[in-house]
Amino acid sequence: MQTLFISGKNWTLSLAELTEYFKARAIEFKIDYFSTEFFALTFPTPLNPSVIDDLGGTIKIAEAKGTLPSETVKEAFLNKNKPAQKQVAQTIIQSAALEGMKKASDKLLFGISVYTSDNNLKTVGGRIQRYVGSAIKDELAAQGKKSSFMGTSQDRSEAQLSHVEVLKKKLVENQAEVLLCIGKTQTWIANTIAVHNPFEFQKRDIYKPNQRAIFGMPPRLARMMVNLSGCTSQKTLLDSFCGVGTILQEALLEGAMVVGVDVNSWCVKAATENLEWVAREYNLSEADFRVVQGDVSRLAEKVGLESVDCMVSEPDLGPALREVPTGPYAQKIITKLEPLFFGFIEEAYRVLRFKGRLVLVTPYIRTRSHEAVTMPIEDKIKEVGFKRIYVFSDDLFSEEAPNHGKLMGSGSLVEMDERHKIGREIHILQK
Ligand SMILES: C[S@@+](CC[C@H](N)C(=O)[O-])C[C@H]1O[C@@H](n2cnc3c(N)ncnc32)[C@H](O)[C@@H]1O
Repeated sequence: MQTLFISGKNWTLSLAELTEYFKARAIEFKIDYFSTEFFALTFPTPLNPSVIDDLGGTIKIAEAKGTLPSETVKEAFLNKNKPAQKQVAQTIIQSAALEGMKKASDKLLFGISVYTSDNNLKTVGGRIQRYVGSAIKDELAAQGKKSSFMGTSQDRSEAQLSHVEVLKKKLVENQAEVLLCIGKTQTWIANTIAVHNPFEFQKRDIYKPNQRAIFGMPPRLARMMVNLSGCTSQKTLLDSFCGVGTILQEALLEGAMVVGVDVNSWCVKAATENLEWVAREYNLSEADFRVVQGDVSRLAEKVGLESVDCMVSEPDLGPALREVPTGPYAQKIITKLEPLFFGFIEEAYRVLRFKGRLVLVTPYIRTRSHEAVTMPIEDKIKEVGFKRIYVFSDDLFSEEAPNHGKLMGSGSLVEMDERHKIGREIHILQK
């Protein structure tokens, strides 16, 4: 059966993270469907739901329990066709999606969430939710089971329970959240088997001893980048612009040996204290980390030639801007930073082991004329000997997957953060 993944806001980055995470662990999979909201993947053996704790870009994981044509769903709820509505409800009720709920001992609370990229269907999400909810309630009652249905409030634009609601109401434990993932031609009926725990990421973001508001990277993004580097528990990961150690702490939680370098002595102390805190909070008795002060121009001298398997770094991305810059100003920012990035790419190649990966963030500046000014690293990476990794390749997709050509050419991934005018361009390079 298929497994569904509800993605975070940046769905391309979420899908890239998933593929690199599974590849690094030799977990076989095929992508059967992808959209801006969710992905359907097939695994030869069942996936352990706890993988969600390792992922920064997945909100929910669900097990498919049945399918129906999306045309029927559209006919039922866009054209308000009664027989089609009945057919949708019948298919859901007869699917295995209610099995767990039927076994629950007490009065049961259940929920429905609707995921679709189709804007028309989004507008009737609440209607779908209420109709299916009432059909499930009736079915459970017919089986002698009392239940109540948890809807989403009318003011919410999407008919979806948040991960916090699912966690708080223990819907995963009771297999009591039904997802309707409406794709272009097929709709999946699924049960949530894991949800992202935002409190853990929040804890690592705001409760770690040392923080830096402007330069700090959100732990969720740091985790996605660690996963893009192919980092696993057998590997050594280096962040040579480690700041307060956000990337390092995520890699430590994956069981990797981590090394941090920063030119700023306060950062070295702050990152060390943060890593000690993570090791204590998460009982990582074998935690292996060190943070040293140094300039990246002498990286090989500091950490040793060919000594690390993965590098994940966000060097300086330029000044904090109040306004969207003009093209010439954006170019000036890039030109000023070029020597730092070019020098770093050379040093990174020297410290990486053969086939080691560098996940590098470069500035992505949108200008007033809606152009993107970026760091021109292509010639440098070729000159140094790095190979660019294209995450999405033909072999990852099953034959029935929709047109995936549009994903294939993208050599980098872009992440815009609402708080900043300068976005991040994420590159994966291999020695
Ligand atoms: C954008 S911040 C990294 C933030 C980090 N990811 C975090 O979450 O805290 C860049 C860091 O690179 C360090 N840095 C800047 N130039 C450097 C250099 N030449 N060598 C080493 N570190 C440098 C700065 O001190 C700063 O802490």
